[in-house]
Amino acid sequence: MRRSRAILTVLTSGALAAGALTVLSPSAEAATTLGAAAAEKGRYFGTAVSLNRLSDSTYSTILNREFNMLTAENEMKIDALEPQQNQFNFTTADRLITRANEIGAQVRGHTLAWHSQQPGWMQSLSGTALRNAMKNHITQVMTHYKGKIHSWDVVNEAFDDSNGGRRDSNLQRTGNDWIEDAFKTARAADPAAKLCYNDYNTDNWSWAKTQGVYNMVKDFKARGVPIDCVGLQSHFNSGSPYPANYRTTLENFAALGVDVQITELDIEGSGATQATTYGNVVRDCLAVARCNGITVWGIRDTDSWRASGTPLLFDGNGNPKAAYTAVLSALGGGTSSPSPSNPGSVSPSVSVSPSQGTGACAATVSVNAWTGGFVATVTVKAGSAALGGWTTGVTLPTGAAVTSTWSATASGSTGAVSFTNVGYNGAVAAGASTSFGFQGTGNPPSGTLTCTAR
Ligand code: G3I
Repeated sequence: MRRSRAILTVLTSGALAAGALTVLSPSAEAATTLGAAAAEKGRYFGTAVSLNRLSDSTYSTILNREFNMLTAENEMKIDALEPQQNQFNFTTADRLITRANEIGAQVRGHTLAWHSQQPGWMQSLSGTALRNAMKNHITQVMTHYKGKIHSWDVVNEAFDDSNGGRRDSNLQRTGNDWIEDAFKTARAADPAAKLCYNDYNTDNWSWAKTQGVYNMVKDFKARGVPIDCVGLQSHFNSGSPYPANYRTTLENFAALGVDVQITELDIEGSGATQATTYGNVVRDCLAVARCNGITVWGIRDTDSWRASGTPLLFDGNGNPKAAYTAVLSALGGGTSSPSPSNPGSVSPSVSVSPSQGTGACAATVSVNAWTGGFVATVTVKAGSAALGGWTTGVTLPTGAAVTSTWSATASGSTGAVSFTNVGYNGAVAAGASTSFGFQGTGNPPSGTLTCTAR
C-alpha cells in the first residue's frame, strides 16, 4: 500500500552550529514543472527534442525547465546514425546525451529497427544481408550508448494499420522472427536498457492493431523473448481520437508484465477540449502502476510535425496553454494547496535559518514514499546573496539507494550522498530558488539536508 509523508529540513552552509532554526508558518509547495510533478508520482515527463532547435533560447529554456526525459525526434533514427553501411555518425545524437546530462534528464532511444527512415543502402538490402545489417545496427548503436539510455524503442511500427497482422516491409520479408531477433540482439548489447516495442494507433483496446501488438507481447512473455515495455505513441486527432478505453489498454498491456510508456503524445485541438483530453491521458497513466511516464512529441505547437493541429502544451511563443495547466494539475503540481490525491507530498512546515549569509543556501525536501521506494523533491534556496553553484548532502538510511536523479548530479548512491547543480540551475539569484529530485529504493531520508554554496 502506498504511503506518503513529508520531511522538511533546512540547514545553511555556515549556520549549522548556530542551533537557531526558526520555524516559519506552514506552507504547501506543489511541484511547478512537469518533470518535478511527474517525479513526485514516480513517473517521468519527457519531450521529443529536435537538436537543431537547441540554439533557440525560448525552446531551450522550456526544455531545461520542464522535462526530465528526452527523445531525439529524428537524430537517433537509422538514416541519421548509419548513413553508410557500418559507418556510424553519432555526433549530433551525442549532443542530446550531453544536454540530458546537463539538466539531469534521462534519454529514450528512438529507434533501432523500423521500416521507415532507412538509409538508401538498407532499403536496397533483403534476406540474410538485411537481417544481419539490422542486428549490426542494433549492436553498434546500443554499444555506443550503453548505460546512457533509459529505454530503447527496439522495434517501431511493425504492425499493419487495420488487420491486426504485421506490416509488409523489407524487414518483415526477412522472416516473421525479425522482431524477436531484434529484441534478443538488443538485450545482449545493453542489458540495462529497457527494451520497448513502439507503435501508433494501439491506444483503442478494441482496434485490431492493438490486439495484434498485445498478442505479440503476450507470446514474447510466454516464450521468454526479452521485452520490457510497450510504447503507445498516442498521436490523437479526429481520425484517431483519444479512446474512452485508453486506461483499459494501458492496464491490459501492463498485466502482461511489461511497463507501459506513452511515447509520442500529441493531441490536436485547442482550448478546454484539448486540455481535458490531456488531463485524461495523464490520469489514465497515473492510474496504472506500470505506466512509467509520458513523452510529448515536441515542445511548442510550432515545433510539431503536425503544427497546424496545434497539438502540444506550449504555443508558438512558448507560453503554456490550457493543456499545460491541465497536465500539471493532473500530475498534482502547480497549485499552492495540497492535492487531494496526494496530501502527503505537501510539506507541513518550513524551517529556515535566520542567518543566511553571503553565499549561503538552504535546502528543503519533500518526500513521497511508498513501501520499498520514494521520490524526493528538493528545493535549493539562495540566501541574501546569489549562488554560483550549490551542493546538498543527505544521509540515506541503511538499505536505501538512489536509483535516479534529475536536475542535479549525484555523487554516490548509498549512505552519504551529495547532489550538485547541473549546468542550467547552478546560478540562483539572491532569495530565489531552484529544485532537483531523486528517486530511490528502500526507506527515504529522514534526517537533515545540508546545503553548501559553491
Ligand atoms: O531537416 C530536413 C530539411 O533540411 C529538409 O529541407 C527537409 C526536406 O524534406 O527535410 C527535413 O527533414 C525532415 C525532418 O522531419 C525534420 O523536419 C524530414 O524530411 C522528415 O521526414 C522528418 O519527419 C519526421 C518523421 O518522423 C519521419 O522520420 C518528423 O520530424 C518526426 O516528428 C516524425 O516522428 C515520428 C516518429 O519517429 C515515429 N512515430 C510517428 C512520428 C510522427 O510521424
